[in-house]
Amino acid sequence: MSSIKQQFTVSFRYDVHFTSSVFDPSNPLFSDVIGSGSTARSPENLNKVLIVLDKGFLKSHLGIFEKIKLYNKQYNKSFELISNPVIIPGGEEAKIKPEYAEQILNAINTSGIDRHSFLVVIGGGCVIDTAGYAAAIAHRGVRLIRLPTTVLAQNDAAIGVKNGINAYEKKNFIGTFAPPFAVINDSEFLKTLDARDWRSGISEAVKVALLKDPLFFDFIEKNAVALSNRDMESMKYLIYRCAELHLEHITTSGDPFETGSSRPLDFGHWAAHKLEQLTGFELRHGEAVAIGLALDVTYSYLKGDLSKTEWKRITQVLQQCGFTLFVPELRSRLDDPANKHSLLRGLEEFREHLGGQLTIMLLKGIGQGYEVNTADTNLYIKAIRLLEKMEKELV
Ligand SMILES: NC(=O)c1ccc[n+]([C@@H]2O[C@H](COP(=O)([O-])OP(=O)(O)OC[C@H]3O[C@@H](n4cnc5c(N)ncnc54)[C@H](O)[C@@H]3O)[C@@H](O)[C@H]2O)c1
Ligand SMILES: [Zn+2]
Repeated sequence: MSSIKQQFTVSFRYDVHFTSSVFDPSNPLFSDVIGSGSTARSPENLNKVLIVLDKGFLKSHLGIFEKIKLYNKQYNKSFELISNPVIIPGGEEAKIKPEYAEQILNAINTSGIDRHSFLVVIGGGCVIDTAGYAAAIAHRGVRLIRLPTTVLAQNDAAIGVKNGINAYEKKNFIGTFAPPFAVINDSEFLKTLDARDWRSGISEAVKVALLKDPLFFDFIEKNAVALSNRDMESMKYLIYRCAELHLEHITTSGDPFETGSSRPLDFGHWAAHKLEQLTGFELRHGEAVAIGLALDVTYSYLKGDLSKTEWKRITQVLQQCGFTLFVPELRSRLDDPANKHSLLRGLEEFREHLGGQLTIMLLKGIGQGYEVNTADTNLYIKAIRLLEKMEKELV
């Protein structure tokens, strides 16, 4: 018998909205977004909305659920709010312990969330990744609306198609590719971030600017100090452009679900993911990305591919934004690259996560990324020493 061959295409579409005071009764956006997904349901049988809240966010937004309830009163023809939100800890803890994804699955089950209902997650990238994973696997996928509350979540983690939790001491080991129903970025949420979480997401913008948009890099360079000093207007532009560049890549690269070995948006991430793990997640993801970028551009410079002037510009911008470019964990067990406490083991872990050949993004110039399939560990050790020296010179 001959093989039965088939091929089909699934098209995805979702919007990333930018607003402020999303749950102010005068702001119809949230209700409109829910309404845009309304399936013919009777007035007594409205779309259900189950809220997942980040506990760290909640601490500085104590009245948020009451606000959503009031909002629901105003828009009571649009959705039915489930009276108990799910509250899970913010930060990497949400992804490390499987019980939090289970807690969300359990709530989806007990509140009768079906494939036409909505899971609405409000929080940082970690809670969003965890809720996204639960939403993707419950009933093989319930609709997810993400309301990211950190800079990094608004310009990167919440806007794409990936979700996941950690396992076997590896980041994002369990997860799926599942586009959201919609994303709503509310700039008001960012006002309560602490200094580290305000800054953290800037590194993802530097990353994407270095790869794709020299003018955006110029913008970050000019506004580095303002950004670091919490200038909201510069931050709003940074988030918008960074989100736009990420989304452009996802929609036009030809590999939105990352089936190949190349993953340009993971520039600087092989070291970042390993450093997060080596520091016991003391480093925020974005802080680790800043170091990972500094390392890969320093390596590019030492390799002779990036000019000294551009290397300096890039490392200086990262420092002006307030990032530290060296932590002692970079140095641990460099003599033994296979040791799980060595940063260099991150190269193999990264390869394994992507599958196929090791593929690392390096830089020839600002806006000119290029990929390599081998890593010179001695040169990486030199790059680490240089970062350490630069950091010492700063103090
Ligand atoms: N899925 C993806 O495509 C993708 C992309 C990039 C990053 N990520 C993941 O995102 C995670 C990092 O996310 P993050 O940087 O948002 O950090 P985070 O989720 O750890 O949040 C940082 C801290 O801020 C608190 N918080 C959140 N919003 C707040 C607010 N408005 N005010 C005060 N506190 C608030 C949280 O409780 C937490 O303690 C990492 O796990 C990373 O791997 C995922
Ligand atoms: Zn990242």
